Amino acid sequence: MKTPKTIALVTGANKGIGYEICRQLSKLGCTVLLGSREISRGTEAAKKLQDEGLDVRAVQVDMNDESTFGSLHDLIAADYGRLDILVNNAGFASDWAYTAANVPIQMLRDTFEANFFALVDLTQRLLPLLRKSSAGRIVNQSSALGSLTLHSTPGSGIDGYKPLAYNSSKTVVNAFTVHLADALKDTPIKVNSAHPGAVATDANPSGTLSVEEGSRTAVELATLPPDGPTGGFFHMGHALPW
Ligand SMILES: NC(=O)c1ccc[n+]([C@@H]2O[C@H](COP(=O)([O-])OP(=O)(O)OC[C@H]3O[C@@H](n4cnc5c(N)ncnc54)[C@H](OP(=O)(O)O)[C@@H]3O)[C@@H](O)[C@H]2O)c1
Repeated sequence: MKTPKTIALVTGANKGIGYEICRQLSKLGCTVLLGSREISRGTEAAKKLQDEGLDVRAVQVDMNDESTFGSLHDLIAADYGRLDILVNNAGFASDWAYTAANVPIQMLRDTFEANFFALVDLTQRLLPLLRKSSAGRIVNQSSALGSLTLHSTPGSGIDGYKPLAYNSSKTVVNAFTVHLADALKDTPIKVNSAHPGAVATDANPSGTLSVEEGSRTAVELATLPPDGPTGGFFHMGHALPW
């Protein structure tokens, strides 16, 4: 079955910012594949959006289980024939109690595995489907905490936030954005990093932005016009330093 509707996949979308990105993209007319590592959580989340009349379908994508990437590729290829939007939103931080001086190496490895290696792996596997789109968009959900410039600028506002594993996993996500945008510069595909802001979710209970506000940057980058930027890092329309 082929459809003229824009097909979007959002990972880590059973709750938080990813869930809201699904709502916003489907309100804009996309068919949204709501990615969740636990399909039961994804199905429950998708049902709530379906009850709002939105075109949302739960799919399994576990950043710790690459077998789910191949299955997801095959499902999208069979049912839609292409992918127009990929929002790499799934991510986590577990090292808030540590610094670069004492973060356990296994914690560093585990964070990079899900936040970076799996993100690259999933994106590479889905690229053949994104290349079939006339306007492919890849959004890597990063964080201002991945910015080395902000970390090394006193008074930048992120001085007190130095969990190495999480922050550096987002720094390398930003590197992937720059390098992939270059690799795809002769295609219509645009690749950008998003900082959602400090958003009140399970991952950041003290966040001050709503999920509606937090989803805005990723949704804007997912729906960029043909003359929009690629290879950049943005928050609410403003470029952030690397
Ligand atoms: N909230 C903020 O202030 C903030 C600021 C900057 C950047 N971010 C980034 O924004 C993204 C979304 O964060 P959020 O605040 O919405 O967090 P959240 O509410 O905790 O949601 C995170 C989502 O990622 C999923 N996830 C985590 N590890 C996964 C894995 N190994 N495989 C598949 N899915 C996984 C979670 O699934 P489960 O429900 O199964 O755990 C959940 O769906 C993350 O990349 C985060 O780093 C957030």
